[in-house]
Amino acid sequence: MNKKVTIIGAGNVGATVAEVTARKNIVDEVVLIDIKPNFAEGKALDIWESSHINYFDTKVKGYTDDYSKTADSDVVVITSGVPRKPGMSRDDLIGINAKIMKDVSQKAYEYSPNAKFIIVANPLDVMTYTAYLATGLPRTKVFGMAGVLDTARFEAFIAEALNVSPKDVNAMLLGGHGDTMVPLPRLTSVSGIPLPELMDAETIHKLVERTKKGGGEIVKLLGTSAWYAPGAAAAEMVEAVILNSHRVFPVCVMLDGEYGQHNVALGVPVKLGYNGIEEIIDLKLQEDEMKLMEISANHVKSVMKVLDDLKLF
Ligand code: NAI
Ligand code: 2OP
Repeated sequence: MNKKVTIIGAGNVGATVAEVTARKNIVDEVVLIDIKPNFAEGKALDIWESSHINYFDTKVKGYTDDYSKTADSDVVVITSGVPRKPGMSRDDLIGINAKIMKDVSQKAYEYSPNAKFIIVANPLDVMTYTAYLATGLPRTKVFGMAGVLDTARFEAFIAEALNVSPKDVNAMLLGGHGDTMVPLPRLTSVSGIPLPELMDAETIHKLVERTKKGGGEIVKLLGTSAWYAPGAAAAEMVEAVILNSHRVFPVCVMLDGEYGQHNVALGVPVKLGYNGIEEIIDLKLQEDEMKLMEISANHVKSVMKVLDDLKLF
């Protein structure tokens, strides 16, 4: 193995990424970092104490703000930041989270210049852009997790509605991580059977709308945002990189002409392996899908302007 993964932010999502990654038993070491004294240490110890029961060898260590312990990581996952409360949008978090993102991504980059960076903190697309600027890494090495979660939600809702196994549902989705995301029922299938063959348009529309607001549905129930599915989604991306498995996922990446967009981070299908993003799949969209993609891009660009106003770069 001889592989190392660092997770910054040992809160709900970060600790879940650590736990799910450890259970996969694909790396030697998972390092958790948090700014809150002893917090990462406590979470890491608790996860490590489950190693016999959950049958993994991966060492799990936690440290308070000590980046020297993250040195030579293969993957760095950044979850540090505040989550939203009921009534808040992901975009409301930018003032606090952009400063944290710039600071922690630069510190982690200093110790692991060859790592692939998976961004999780919100607002996801603009935080991915922030880490891209802060590290100076090429776009293939710094990218965001949202599409794996959003498609998983869509897949779960479809499985429930059709009473089929979620394992057989395969969804595709584009755009920003927010209410403007663009689920693509046309490219969603159940064991190869196109979704529109199995469900009427009205039911599909309802599930698409539920998916777009999937994060908010959990915030309303819990008073804070989700962590089990987001943590599992980020760990799925960690696995694709560590095992160099060339998985195809929707991932947030800086676009440079793909989908007619420039200088904006948006979710698009990519091939993911040890070197990071190996390929961006530039799908030929239908006119209505392209329009929705443009709306999503324009929304993300408007949040990028808020980042500009913070004058962090
Ligand atoms: P949380 O509050 O449970 O954990 C955040 C952790 O970050 C805390 O432990 C805090 O002490 C730590 N932290 C804050 N500043 C730090 C710094 N400078 N250095 C190191 N650690 C620092 O929040 P949760 O629920 O884990 O969410 C984390 C972020 O992930 C939020 O921004 C949330 O909106 C986002 N999120 C994104 C998802 C996605 O699909 N991309 C899904 C779910 C959450
Ligand atoms: C989610 O979609 C809040 O981004 C977070 O659950």
